[in-house]
Amino acid sequence: MERLDKYLADAGVGTRSEVKNVIRKGRVTVGGAKVTKPETKVSGDEPVCLDGKPVKKAPGHVYYMLHKPAGVITATEDTREKTVMDLLPSGLPGLTPARRAKLFPVGRLDKDTEGLLLVTDDGALAHALLSPAKHVEKEYYAEIEGQLCDDAEERFREGIDIGDEKKTLPAELIRLSDTQVRIILHEGRFHQVKRMVEACGARVTYLKRLRMGALVLPDDLDKGEWRAVPQEILVNFCK
Ligand code: URA
Repeated sequence: MERLDKYLADAGVGTRSEVKNVIRKGRVTVGGAKVTKPETKVSGDEPVCLDGKPVKKAPGHVYYMLHKPAGVITATEDTREKTVMDLLPSGLPGLTPARRAKLFPVGRLDKDTEGLLLVTDDGALAHALLSPAKHVEKEYYAEIEGQLCDDAEERFREGIDIGDEKKTLPAELIRLSDTQVRIILHEGRFHQVKRMVEACGARVTYLKRLRMGALVLPDDLDKGEWRAVPQEILVNFCK
């Protein structure tokens, strides 16, 4: 038996204080009955619902997102550089010391790149997200200097030779202004955005990942902050 607020926090519904508020507002039922006391004990056998929808604990895996700041490297440890894992706070829902040791970042953002980074202990999900065959979209905002060639959009759509064995998969380039673009990729090669932009005649001066599949970097997640990924997003992750 465990406390209802802990059960919901571990399931990724929110922080312990957020789920206490949710429970007190009467939005949670256990076995069909409304429960308003966060300390209520649950066994996990009777269905726990939030706003009528079942909440299940992720079976053995945890998923967190970080708004990566520039200046830290995407690695679990490094002898010289500060890593994203050095920014991981204690007290995230479901984060036990045993799980902490198994966490790894899904895909790599360069040291100077900011934005959405998923960190998990779920190898299968990581594989699905990164596999070019699954075509999960990765969306970036970039600031550039220099002049993109006139047919840059078409070149992105067709795939670009950036010096690898194979051309890149078709991607999308959207010009927001002369110096700002959005780019959507379906794979994650080394320095891929920077190399594709360079192949079209310009240079990336700032890069931020905004989205991976259905997981969008929240506006209210500040640089360096972490958050558990809500369950309903994971269900749709690879769509
Ligand atoms: N593409 C890049 O060039 N750098 C990143 O960090 C991510 C994608």
